[in-house]
Amino acid sequence: MSDDKERTVELHYEGGVLKLPVFTGTEGESTIELKTLLGSTGMTTLDPGFGNTASCSSKITYIDGAAGILRYRGYPIEDLAVHSTFLETAYLVIYGELPDPGKLKEFSDKLRDNADIPADMGTLIDAMPRNGHPMALISSAVNTLAAYYEDSADPEDEDQVELATIRLMAKLPTIAARIYRNSIGESPIAPDDSLDYVDNFIRMTFGDKAPTGDLGDLFNKAVGMLLVLHADHELNCSTATVRVVGSSKADIFASVASGINALSGPSHGGANQAVLEMLEEIRDSGISIEDFLEKVKAREMRLMGFGHRVYKNFDPRSKEIKVLASQILDQHDSPDELFALALKLEAAALQDSYFTERKLYPNVDFYTGVIYRTMGFPTNMFTVLFALGRLPGWIAHYREQLHDPAFRIARPRQHYIGSTERRYPGQG
Ligand code: CMC
Repeated sequence: MSDDKERTVELHYEGGVLKLPVFTGTEGESTIELKTLLGSTGMTTLDPGFGNTASCSSKITYIDGAAGILRYRGYPIEDLAVHSTFLETAYLVIYGELPDPGKLKEFSDKLRDNADIPADMGTLIDAMPRNGHPMALISSAVNTLAAYYEDSADPEDEDQVELATIRLMAKLPTIAARIYRNSIGESPIAPDDSLDYVDNFIRMTFGDKAPTGDLGDLFNKAVGMLLVLHADHELNCSTATVRVVGSSKADIFASVASGINALSGPSHGGANQAVLEMLEEIRDSGISIEDFLEKVKAREMRLMGFGHRVYKNFDPRSKEIKVLASQILDQHDSPDELFALALKLEAAALQDSYFTERKLYPNVDFYTGVIYRTMGFPTNMFTVLFALGRLPGWIAHYREQLHDPAFRIARPRQHYIGSTERRYPGQG
């Protein structure tokens, strides 16, 4: 935190005037520090959804929502999406710098060496409801990693946190692919250490049905790019959850499992599934786009894949994804009807004052589902792919928090509006 004690703001309240320091971030953003507020004034702040609250200082990701800027460790997302691989980006997000070839190989080798899961963990996963939502299943499986690997569950031990980092990154694709194969009644495919991270995941998922040749290369590129685009997004709901859970000194497996649960909601990562279901509903019901948007405006439903807490102009990730969607769908002889529908829906919404006045634009989830569907992923796996991408971000935030000198257990206050004291019936 760049702390500029010269700058202050004054809070005038019934009891007097409180001077509060203003910190300046590296991008010039100003943050008022409220540490002394409650002690000095007896007052708290009320900020539903934490829309105005910075709960920590962080060096990982910078977003300027008005300008549509997203950078990991200072590198623009547009550069990383095109020039970086997912493993390189994951390394950058977690460790703070781009790896040189030697470090990248070392990281990749460690992930290959740790990609297997214990046999009895496989049995446990196989015993879970096969038709259950994969997000529920992967969070449960990740939670149990703490029990399988107690030797890497101590947040106070840096070596253990590092080992847990490798284990999480290495095993999540294996867990996700196994859960998918269970859902289609196919036996699991063991990790193949001759393949790179993304290819290995595609292979463990689709087996012999995985595309090969040019199409295989395109799929690898597309999945890799989507994972890069999802790798971190500062204090979003799931990452904030990982930090909150981790702030109690819960281990990294429990914290990441909590992040997966937070991601599953349709207002967050679950939106990519919800978008596809919405497009299918529009197609199947035959409702016109205009009538559908009228229902949204009448608040009967939300336009899924639109709007963002931070981006109020455009989501830079959605631009990259739209281009990728065209490339993938171009491989098919006939145009994709859901992609065509999504393009029409976007165009109609962006001409409608309801959406423009509220600064609602397509977000990262609007086109991802269309791409995943074309690749053969079932709808309920879309959010799992989001989780695979977001994992480095969750890990990076968990680790950063452990070294934050201002680290405290997360414990917000409340604005109490309940009953005042009353007597228990019969007690006078
Ligand atoms: N459709 C229709 N109206 C919307 C939408 C939408 N998708 N999003 C926001 N609004 C309206 C909202 O009703 C409100 O209107 P009014 O001021 O008249 O009451 C105004 O826009 C501001 O909305 P908000 O709910 O205060 O915004 P928020 O910052 O709390 O919510 C959001 C952000 C992403 C949860 C919300 O835009 C939303 O529900 N979008 C649809 C779900 C979605 O696509 N989620 C993925 C988000 S990006 C990836 C991720 O985070 O995982």
